[in-house]
Amino acid sequence: MLEKELKDVIRDIPDFPQPGIVFKDITPILKDQRLCKEIVFEFARRLEGIKIDVIAGIESRGFLFGMMLANHLDIPFVPIRKQGKLPYKTISESYKLEYGQATIEIHEDAFEKGQNILIHDDLLATGGTVVAASKLIEKLDGKIVGYSFVISLDFLQSHGRLTRFSDRIISLVH
Ligand code: PRP
Ligand code: ADE
Repeated sequence: MLEKELKDVIRDIPDFPQPGIVFKDITPILKDQRLCKEIVFEFARRLEGIKIDVIAGIESRGFLFGMMLANHLDIPFVPIRKQGKLPYKTISESYKLEYGQATIEIHEDAFEKGQNILIHDDLLATGGTVVAASKLIEKLDGKIVGYSFVISLDFLQSHGRLTRFSDRIISLVH
């Protein structure tokens, strides 16, 4: 079963990047090309029948499977980046992290108004990052059709923060 396989390779790093946080290290997954493909196939399987025009992936770990999935589905990928990284005209949102504070940005011409957007990230923790990403998408009049995560930290109970944007929340590992 994919979830069990992923749990077996994801490494827990206690007290990184600060005391009290157990960091989920996905780098061992990236060394296994079969598992990477399985992840993409599983996302695609769970998204079957959903019309998605664009995948928006969140820097930096959201770029990994976000881009692979977009390529597999043969649709465009749009990066949502940390402040000051995108070169063209941007809009921004600030938010709180499990371990700090951040601002993310998207290019203002990232997609067309009314397009169906899937937001992808590697991990859902407090939900602050994807809520900020969702606000960016809505400011540009995108329609959020769902979220995909490799990992969801369910004990933080952040699903409820996303359902006002979309209740399609796919997580491979809980
Ligand atoms: C991590 C992770 C998510 C976010 C989840 O990113 O990749 O984007 O935190 O946390 P939240 O649900 O509490 O907002 P991070 O900002 O550490 O950046 P990185 O992907 O560049 O490592
Ligand atoms: N992003 C936010 N919390 C995290 C965690 N516990 N492990 C990995 N990435 C994270």
